[in-house]
Amino acid sequence: MELGAQIIDINMGCPAKKVCNRLCGSALLQDESLVGRILEAVVKAAEPAGVPVTLKTRTGWNRENRNGVRVARIAEASGIAALAIHGRTRADFYEGEAEYETIRDIRAAVSIPVIANGDITHADKAREVMAFTGTVGVMVGRASHGSPWIFRDINGLLTTGRVPPPLPRAELRDIVLGHLQAIYAFHGEESGLRIARKHLGWYSRLLDAAPQARPHLMAAESTSLQFACASEYFDAWVGAGDGGRPIEQC
Ligand SMILES: Cc1cc2nc3c(=O)[nH]c(=O)nc-3n(C[C@H](O)[C@H](O)[C@H](O)COP(=O)(O)O)c2cc1C
Repeated sequence: MELGAQIIDINMGCPAKKVCNRLCGSALLQDESLVGRILEAVVKAAEPAGVPVTLKTRTGWNRENRNGVRVARIAEASGIAALAIHGRTRADFYEGEAEYETIRDIRAAVSIPVIANGDITHADKAREVMAFTGTVGVMVGRASHGSPWIFRDINGLLTTGRVPPPLPRAELRDIVLGHLQAIYAFHGEESGLRIARKHLGWYSRLLDAAPQARPHLMAAESTSLQFACASEYFDAWVGAGDGGRPIEQC
């Protein structure tokens, strides 16, 4: 908060072994009284500054122990301002399909805002999941990789009832190149190059020439070479013109 945080979001959803072995992340779902003590302590510490504390968690530790509803009630009683629920248990990691029944039960059990998460892959799915669960919103993870305009699509559908028309190629190119520049500026040369490579792997799905482009984009050994290479491929793609919806959304 001293650094200017406007919200404190507690992560009790991470399934990683190195996190859970230290009884952090989703491992905490095994100890509900500890969950309560942590949440109460953080809420109490944040209260004087008026900073809301939110919680991100899963539906339970494993399918035999889906205690998401109890954890949500503990969170509400502890003064948590909003809940984001990933519709998988810790044991599920990121595998299988997210289930929304438990999110719906959690939503019905508490009166704080609940946000549904897991496998929201396109705007229609966001609307369907919100209608099924009764949540106030959705949270998107992996489907935004290489498709950050999914947020525009979802917001458009939820606010106007229609998915907005696809962005023209030139605008998509500008988003991609702008993202690369932001990555370089934030992470610097070495990490920037590596992190941008990952995003280019996803963005290159847009390109008609993806199979030829990918090895070149991955081989570039500096951010300036990588940027030049990406610009070349995306400029050519813009030059080839818009041919309907440019990407199969996720
Ligand atoms: C590689 C990877 C890293 C993640 N890191 C975080 C993280 O640091 N904090 C967090 O709250 N969730 C993290 N998540 C979980 C996502 O926020 C989200 O809950 C999960 O991917 C399910 O949503 P999705 O099906 O839309 O991807 C991560 C997910 C993945 C795949």
